Parts: sequence; structure tokens; C-alpha cells
Amino acid sequence: MDTVSDITEMQRRCLALREAGKRIAFVPTMGFLHEGHLSLLQEGRKQGDVLVLSIFVNPTQFGEGEDLDTYPRDFERDESLAREAGVDLIFYPTAETVYPANYCSYLSVEGSLTETLEGACRPGHFRGVATVVAKLFNIVQPHVALFGRKDFQQLAMIRQMVRDFNMPVEIKGMPIIRETDGLAMSSRNVYLSDDERRQSLALNQSLTLAAELARGGESNAHKILEVSLKRLTTEPDLVVDYVKICNADTLEDVEIVDQRSVMLLAVKAGTTRLIDNNYLIAKV
Ligand code: PAJ
Repeated sequence: MDTVSDITEMQRRCLALREAGKRIAFVPTMGFLHEGHLSLLQEGRKQGDVLVLSIFVNPTQFGEGEDLDTYPRDFERDESLAREAGVDLIFYPTAETVYPANYCSYLSVEGSLTETLEGACRPGHFRGVATVVAKLFNIVQPHVALFGRKDFQQLAMIRQMVRDFNMPVEIKGMPIIRETDGLAMSSRNVYLSDDERRQSLALNQSLTLAAELARGGESNAHKILEVSLKRLTTEPDLVVDYVKICNADTLEDVEIVDQRSVMLLAVKAGTTRLIDNNYLIAKV
């Protein structure tokens, strides 16, 4: 396994692999790898002849006052996990390499997909994600790229961007990996105090409650949201950014739930912002 930090060198290596007829599977991450990331790598191993991982804490997707400076980083640990996962090539650039002093170009996916939910709470976030993912695709030139449904809206936006810009890459969405008690794995979970960690179980529990209601025949989105919100607000240190039931394709709010309905939520546990989601009826 090799680690490359230079863009031209990475492009050259990936192009050579493509020209040798290798199918490149790519998993972009911000590092501090956990089992969610590892599940993408495991599938990537199956999807391609060559497995490429990027580790880059992308400054343009963090807003003012967000956790860019404190975002957890441990490259040595990531490198050994990547080796165990069968990664062939790690792309590990610096911020100055990706965004040199004269950098000017940004890509934004417009419309309801990015204006709602995370887009409404974190202005500029998706512009930063779309920009870096497009750049990474140009550098790695993957045949297939894997993303987690943990970041449901991010995945939807990337699919839209790839369609709109005719990017020659297949996007594969992967299931959410959870701790045994149900908390969705996230690099940010390390920020949680024991008490916040315990209270954060309410996220998955409120999604489960909602799915039970929907699968039991309740189709009124407002009634389901009420129950979920109540579960979240019983925890003293959780502050709800949003809980919504949306159509999985458009991310517009729905009134009556159906197979395409997904519940999405964002909650602050102390200073840590957590997101989670689940299809209400469809089992994936
Ligand atoms: P990061 O948060 O490191 O996540 C990298 C990938 O891992 C994303 O596709 C994310 O959805 C997936 N992932 C995270 N937690 C997961 C879990 N519990 N189960 C399954 N998949 C999970 O998402 C980003 O980085 C960045 O925005 C990035 C796409 C790399 C652009 O900077």
C-alpha cells in the first residue's frame, strides 16, 4: 500500500492503472476511520481491482465556528486500518495542495436537494462537499465510488452532480453501520461525554419508533414526527436542529408516508452535532 500526497503523482498513478485495464474503486473520507468507513472499503474491495482511499479534512465544507480545527485526526491509525482493509493507494493531500493560494472554482448543486435539512443548517456545506468530491473524482478517475447512507443528503447530492455533469463514475450507496446499541458510527462520536453518549441513543430510538408506527399502519407524517420529537426532547442535553419526513428522491417534506419516505434528523448533544436517518417503511 502506498500513500501519495501530490496531485499530479496521484493522477499519473491512477491513469496508469486505468490504462492497464484495472477497475478503480474509490472511497473518499475525512479519516479517523471507523467501521462505517471500513464497510465502504470492504465493498470497494469487491467492486474494483484496485482500491483507493482518500483522507482529507476538507476545509471548504466546514462553516464559521464549526469543528474544522478540532476534527479528529490520526493518520497512522488510519494507515494501518487501511492496510488491513486491503487498500492499495491512499491519497492524503494537504489543504494547501487541494486549495492553493489562487484557488477560485466551486461547484454547487442547486435546488431543493441542497436547500433543505443540512443545507439549511450549514450554509455553504454542500458547495464545499460537491467541490472536493468533483476534484477528487478528477484526481482519482474512479470507475466506482462508494458513499454511506449515513449522509443521506450528501449521497443524493452527489448522485445529482454526477448525473448533471455527466461524470463517468458509478455511485454506490451503502447502509448505515451502527454501534451495538444503535448509535450511528461517526468520527464525531469521540467528542461525546458519557452522558451525551447515553442521551444520543434517542436518535436511533426515535427513528425506530417512527418506523414501528409507519409499519403498523400510521401514515400521517405529522403524528409520527410528534412521537419522534417527544422521544428526542425527553433528553435534557439534546437540542433538535430538525426532524423531518421526506421523499427519498426529492428530499421534499411529505404529509403521507409511503415506501419512499425517509426520516432524517440532526441533533446537537452538547457541542457535538449528530445526524441520522432511516427509511420508514422500506427495509434497506
Ligand atoms: P466522512 O464523514 O469521513 O465519511 C466518509 C464516508 O463514510 C461517507 O460516504 C459517509 O457517508 C460514510 N460513513 C460515515 N459514517 C458511516 C456509517 N456509520 N455507516 C456507513 N457509512 C458511513 O462524508 C465525508 O467524510 C465527506 O463529506 C467527504 C465525502 C469525504 C467529502 O469531504
